Amino acid sequence: TRPSAPVLTPDPTNRDSAFLKTMRGEAAPHTPVWFMRQAGRYMPEYRALRAGRSMLECIRTPELAAEITLQPIKAMPMDAAILFNDILTPLPVMGLDLDFVGGVGPQISNRIETPFDVDRLGVPAAAEVMPYTAESIKLVRQELDPRGVPLIGFVGAPFTLASYAIEGKGSRNYERTKRFMYGEPAAWHRLMDKFETILADYLAEQVKAGAQAVQIFDSWVGALSIYDYVTFVKPATGRLIERTKKLGVPVIYFGTSTHHLLPQMSSLGSDVMGIDWRTPLNDAWKLIQPGQGVQGNLDPLLLQGPWRELKHQTDRILAEVDGRPGHIFNVGHGLLPETPVDMVRRLVDYVHEQTAK
Ligand code: CP3
Repeated sequence: TRPSAPVLTPDPTNRDSAFLKTMRGEAAPHTPVWFMRQAGRYMPEYRALRAGRSMLECIRTPELAAEITLQPIKAMPMDAAILFNDILTPLPVMGLDLDFVGGVGPQISNRIETPFDVDRLGVPAAAEVMPYTAESIKLVRQELDPRGVPLIGFVGAPFTLASYAIEGKGSRNYERTKRFMYGEPAAWHRLMDKFETILADYLAEQVKAGAQAVQIFDSWVGALSIYDYVTFVKPATGRLIERTKKLGVPVIYFGTSTHHLLPQMSSLGSDVMGIDWRTPLNDAWKLIQPGQGVQGNLDPLLLQGPWRELKHQTDRILAEVDGRPGHIFNVGHGLLPETPVDMVRRLVDYVHEQTAK
């Protein structure tokens, strides 16, 4: 394994933004708002830019990735930007042939089927094989800094990446993944270790380039029992979070359907836990570590209206938080393509108004 990156000199830029204050657990002038998938198909600007260009081309072209990252920031008063990229970007550099197929989602033509397939995966240095990510971050920061908006970098977590590498696509029940995990535990742990190594290195590159906070997406880990999480996933994910915290930026650890896993997931020590809509935030706060913040947790479907229900449920979430510092307003999972831009804008304004001190 590659040695952990050294602690970096703290970046003072926009340290006092509502988002970064809240990430540190400090009181902020208003509740910060950003949305997972805030750059995406619900925006006409995104659809126009993507027309005739593949997802991977956009990710690998810094000017395009930077422009897409900035689209929601220019359209609405979001409190943070998230780099336009995908959690699956590290798979091709490891040797897995990834394609984003329109209307179907990600597809891998040479998925992992045997322990030998794990051993043939490469773990190259992120800076060498994904240099466009640091370039994109530098371009985005030039535009964000004067606006006072901090930038979030991200990676997928080892389990969620393994689920794509083994299933070869999205999945409902993760049957191939679990079969491999139970049937080939040694190879499974080697796979987790390879992901830990490349992801820790990739996050270090992102932070060096200018990411001011990071999120680790373990979107599908909720499919596991508590026992399986602790046995098969927690060790490598814990090392990844530990190494990431040494980079000196705050860390969000996110998953969906994780109510039962929150005590275990939160024990890995991220600064903030991402919570989906299934768990009320005041319950989540009782399940996680003292001092940790929460991010969430509106059902993204509510953004399709009516406004009456969206407003009512936003009020409910804010009432559950009850002014406690350490809440970042977000959806419980990514914005959906059918979301009207006006509803997103109205919601950002509404949360700002309701929480202004
Ligand atoms: O949040 C953001 O705005 C930043 C960009 C971002 C994307 N993907 C862009 C994207 C982020 C943070 C992701 C993370 C991601 N990607 C996750 C974790 C979050 C989650 O949703 O659970 C996962 C599981 C993926 C894998 C992935 N990428 C899938 C399953 C798909 C297809 C589904 C879909 O919505 O099309 C993608 C493609 C993808 N990644 C799109 C975007 C904007 C859609 C591509 C398009 O324009 O058609």
